[in-house]
Parts: sequence; C-alpha cells; structure tokens
Amino acid sequence: MHALHVGSRPDALPCREDEYERVLRCVGELLEEGSGGCIYISGVPGTGKTATVHTIIRELKRMAQNSEINPFTYVEINGLKIPEPSAAYSLLWEGISGHDVAKEGHLRVGAKESLKALTRHFTTGNRGPEGHACVVLMDELDQLVTPKQDVVYNFFNWPTLVGSKLVVIAVANTMDLPERVMTGRVRSRLGMIRINFQPYTREQLEKIVEARLASAKEGLEDEEGASQVIIAPDAIKFASMTVSRITGDARRVLDICRRAVELVEPTKGTVKAPHVREVVNMMQNSPTAAYLRDLSFHERLMLTSLIKCVKREGVEEIKWSEVEYQHLTYVDSLTSEDDPKRKPTPYELMMVLDSLVASRAVVVEDGTAVARKPPGERRLLLNLEQGEVERVLGDVGGQRWKAVLSN
Ligand SMILES: Nc1ncnc2c1ncn2[C@@H]1O[C@H](COP(=O)(O)OP(=O)(O)OP(=O)(O)O)[C@@H](O)[C@H]1O
Ligand SMILES: [Mg+2]
Repeated sequence: MHALHVGSRPDALPCREDEYERVLRCVGELLEEGSGGCIYISGVPGTGKTATVHTIIRELKRMAQNSEINPFTYVEINGLKIPEPSAAYSLLWEGISGHDVAKEGHLRVGAKESLKALTRHFTTGNRGPEGHACVVLMDELDQLVTPKQDVVYNFFNWPTLVGSKLVVIAVANTMDLPERVMTGRVRSRLGMIRINFQPYTREQLEKIVEARLASAKEGLEDEEGASQVIIAPDAIKFASMTVSRITGDARRVLDICRRAVELVEPTKGTVKAPHVREVVNMMQNSPTAAYLRDLSFHERLMLTSLIKCVKREGVEEIKWSEVEYQHLTYVDSLTSEDDPKRKPTPYELMMVLDSLVASRAVVVEDGTAVARKPPGERRLLLNLEQGEVERVLGDVGGQRWKAVLSN
C-alpha cells in the first residue's frame, strides 16, 4: 500500500526515460556552459511532470556534489502554493541572493522590491564567471498567468539575457502558454526547449504499477511474502484499462490499485479483477460522489476554494474570509469566456456556504466565543474525504478544474 501511494517517491520513473534524459542533458549542458535557458514541459494531470523534474533535480544535485557539473542553487515555485503570482519574485530573489531559507526563514522582501532587485541583477550583475547559476522549477505555471502576464513573461525572458545563468524549468498543463504570453518577435528569440508529456497508455500504466510493486518487494528476498502475488496481472490490466480510457493519469491507477489492496488486506489474499471492479464502482457510485455531482457551480467552487486554502496553508481549518477571497479569484479563472462571469455578492456567497453546511459537507466553527468574532474570522472545515472531493470535482469540471485541483 505504501509503495502504491501517490505520495511515495519512486527512485526511477518507468516510461519517462526519454523525457528524463532529454531534460537532464539540457539542464546539465546549460550549467556547463554557464548560460541560461528555458525548458517548457506540458502535459495533462498525472503524466509524471513534477515527479520527473524532481528526479532530475536530485540527480543534478548529486552530480554537482561530486563536482561532475557546476554547482547551482535550486528554487522551487508552485503556482498553486503561493498567495498571488507576484510572490514568485520574492522566492526567486531569495534563491538568487543566496538567502538560506532553511536556516533563516523567508526574507521579508515584498514582490515589488524583489522584482526591482531581480531586474537589476539580470540586466547588469552576475556577468562574471564566478556568479552562481540558478535552476528554478516553475510548477503549475498556468496558475501564474495574470491579465498583464508580466510574471510568466519575466520568467521566460530573464533566462535569455546574456550572463543570466538562470535555467527555468516551466511546467504547465497547456501546450500553448508561451504563445499566449509571448508575442511574435520575442517568442522566436526565446529558443525554448519544449516537451509534451503524453497521457500514459494502458501498457504504460501497467508498467508503472508493476514497478511500484516490485520496489515494495526489494529487500524481502528471503522473507515471507516475497513470493506472494499482491495484485494479479489481469487485475492490473483491468485497472490500467479503466484509467487509460478516461485520462491516462498515473495518480488514478495507483489510487485504484492501492484501494484494492486495502480491500483484500484483511484476508491476506491476492487482488483479482473483481476487487478492482468493486473499487472502481465504489469510487464512481459512493454517496459522496453522487452528492458532489449534483452540486451547483458555486457550491463546487466553494469546496474547491476551501481545499486550495487547506493545501496552501497546510492546515485543515480555514478562515471564511480566505475561502471567500479564493472563491472570487476562481470565478474568473474557472468560468469560460461565454459564461456570464457574474461575481456573487457576499450575501450570495454566504447562502452557498449555508447550503454546504446544511448538508454537512462543511463544518463551521461554533460556540459563544465564536459568535463574537466577525464572520470572516470563523473557521471552516471540510467534512468529506478531501481526495474524493478533488477526484470527483475534477471529473465533473473537466480539464481546468483538474488543473486547479491536482497537486
Ligand atoms: N512514470 C511513472 N512511474 C511511477 N510513478 C509515476 C510515473 N508517472 C507518474 N507517477 C506518479 O503519479 C503521481 C502523479 O505524478 P506527477 O505529480 O508527476 O504528475 P503531474 O504530471 O505533475 O500532474 P499535475 O499536472 O497534476 O501536477 C505521482 O505520485 C508520481 O509519482
Ligand atoms: Mg505536477
């Protein structure tokens, strides 16, 4: 179960060997030359983008430690985890200026200040050979697109400046983000390396599950259980087929297989195809799934906003004012062009919350002490299984919701 968990970190990623090699070589070469560059990785959720880049960075760090390549600073920026796009500037400036976040905590420099410092740095400084290279992972880049598009523009542009020594690995769900952000002349000078991660096929999903199971058995050679078949081959095939027909998302197939193992665990038996079918049915027909599918647009959006806040802050209880703010931010990004983008009023939002509370999907902090607090200060708690909510809302809402909900 542990090896199949989406949170576990496999050492190698089967079926992504080519992508891994290509990106590793590119970044390695840029570091060797002491130049900057941008690598753009696109692909739908669960195609191994983040996992692949993380393995590459681990390998590059190892190589740098053994003096096989030049040393570099690594900065990771995740569009889903920062409060607003411009916060990316402060994080990059921390990395560039050599501030040690692990030891000293975050630098208290605002976005504007940081942008100024970065612009100065990339246009005048860092030209000498002694300047440190910096590798930045910009994950969930779609989230950093603003009306002015200045953040994404700068992160694409800085690496192209002479002597920048900035390597940007940009990861996004959509393929055409550079086209949307950069206009003709600028775009052609970027010389960006682009890789699209295709959704996994049935065979690839099978390999991924098998590799995870094999890794769980490593080191068990003589022990009991080493020879036991945990999931029968036809069960793996069935799970992979089910997933590849809809998404090609590795997260999904791992989830189904893990739950199937959980299901048979008490009997210590082998997972067979009917077990997998049972899990798939359960995931599709659970009361929670049915409830979520019937919710209104704003009810679903509010649950999404709550989950986003939970992930960003790493705590379960979130202030109403924060959920409200997140909700309004999402109204713009999750409604399509032809939808009326009408922002709900505070009163209407409160009605949406009330209906979620009435059905016990969300619990609100309660009691006499709380009654004295302003409504915005009250804390909310998701009363459903978060993973399930993410999965169902992603399925109901399509690609853009998936992008927002994943990670
Ligand atoms: N080739 C692979 N081998 C083993 N595990 C994989 C592979 N590809 C993906 N996974 C696993 O699937 C899960 C999802 O992968 P990852 O987070 O890299 O997807 P992603 O493309 O970044 O998705 P998103 O766009 O939602 O961020 C992770 O647990 C990852 O370890
Ligand atoms: Mg990712």
